[in-house]
Amino acid sequence: MSMSKRHYEQVGVAMTCRSFAEYERMFALEPSILQEGRILDVASGASSFVAEANARGYSAQAADPLYSMDAASIQEHGEREIEVSTQKLNGIKEVYDWSYYGDLERHRGLREQSIQRFVEDFKRSEGTDIYRAARLPELPFESDTFSLVLCSHFLFLYQEQFDEEFHLRAIRELLRVCRKGGRVLIYPLFSLRWDRYPNLDSLLTALESDGVMAEMGTSELVFIPGSKEFLSLKK
Ligand SMILES: C[S@@+](CC[C@H](N)C(=O)[O-])C[C@H]1O[C@@H](n2cnc3c(N)ncnc32)[C@H](O)[C@@H]1O
Repeated sequence: MSMSKRHYEQVGVAMTCRSFAEYERMFALEPSILQEGRILDVASGASSFVAEANARGYSAQAADPLYSMDAASIQEHGEREIEVSTQKLNGIKEVYDWSYYGDLERHRGLREQSIQRFVEDFKRSEGTDIYRAARLPELPFESDTFSLVLCSHFLFLYQEQFDEEFHLRAIRELLRVCRKGGRVLIYPLFSLRWDRYPNLDSLLTALESDGVMAEMGTSELVFIPGSKEFLSLKK
């Protein structure tokens, strides 16, 4: 296989389902930051992060366009995505760092556990506002609400489908719903072709002129080739 083909082929935005443990590593989350106040996970898909966070006593909500669907349809969609992504990963296994997941079967097993946990919680949460159907660059939350806003595997990753203006509007919206002194954390900063987001400097300059403090954190979720940083924005 030629080098130019060794990226993850994707049409549209996939719906994946990472667990609390993966989020914890991805954003180097400590209990101190999780217990500061309300947490929002945006583009949360079928992730079990919110279910597991609430079970641990934190106060978390999730937002994703797919939450307008019913639980059975999300489950079907998510399980199909696990099949498809496992096949795609199998074709380019050698580009990834498997030191966290071990191997493809364990990776798949973790995804299956996470979607199961998500579906149970999604059903149980019917009638609450834990899972909100929402689509960036707009969110249906009051300003200054959350102390921690997370966005995993949506912004920057699909940079070929969403332009810089979208990214800036979306990040300003994440910051709008974040309270003063709170943080917005985004991972990865890479596309599915493993290129670091090329307009990051101009985007950060625009955010800094809004008064936001930007830092790079070291992600502990090794997997995507070369992707060791998450973006941490302090409002
Ligand atoms: C790759 S999944 C990531 C799911 C989860 N955060 C994780 O890390 O496993 C990307 C998610 O982005 C959602 N999405 C697509 N367009 C969106 C938008 N405009 N605003 C917010 N989320 C969006 C999709 O529905 C999908 O669930």
